[in-house]
Amino acid sequence: MKLSLNLNGQKHEVDVDPNTPLLWVIRDHLKLTGTKFGCGMAQCGACTVHMNGSPIRSCVTPVSSVQNQQITTIEGLLTSEVSREASAVVNAWEDIAVVQCGYCQSGQIMSATALLKQNPNPSEKDIDDFMSGNICRCSTYVRIKQGIQQAAQSMALADAGHTAEPLYYDAAESNPQGGDHHVA
Ligand code: FES
Ligand code: FES
Repeated sequence: MKLSLNLNGQKHEVDVDPNTPLLWVIRDHLKLTGTKFGCGMAQCGACTVHMNGSPIRSCVTPVSSVQNQQITTIEGLLTSEVSREASAVVNAWEDIAVVQCGYCQSGQIMSATALLKQNPNPSEKDIDDFMSGNICRCSTYVRIKQGIQQAAQSMALADAGHTAEPLYYDAAESNPQGGDHHVA
């Protein structure tokens, strides 16, 4: 069955079973592999994308249910309605070197940007509560929280007309042999 999908600001037509999870349409049909498969049961957050700016788990979302909605994946995040938050998050992620293996990080960044859009000055508890559905098998939770706090601070400083300085040490500078860190 032909379905129409609005993804990263572009219309796509896909010929799939309407019950196909959105994740597999994104990865297999549209070849956007930044969104990851983890548990397939809405338990880990690896497959997080945005629907109209809010995070959803694409592994349990039938593609037919998101027709006529604005879907954003990690590939379209910097040009989406949360572009300001996304830029702040990506810069903080690089400053702090949040990423280890990278597998969970697309989902973490999707959730972090949605949090900052809803709440630009989250408390630690706000961050813990909002991010609790995103699992990281490398346990980068402390740095993820620091990244969100730094992103929030950089946006507040920009609003006040100041340039943001990293709140935390720059791991890449401290350890130039530290290897590459990629969101796979
Ligand atoms: S793969 Fe969707 S929540 Fe784990
Ligand atoms: S699973 Fe490896 S960085 Fe989160």
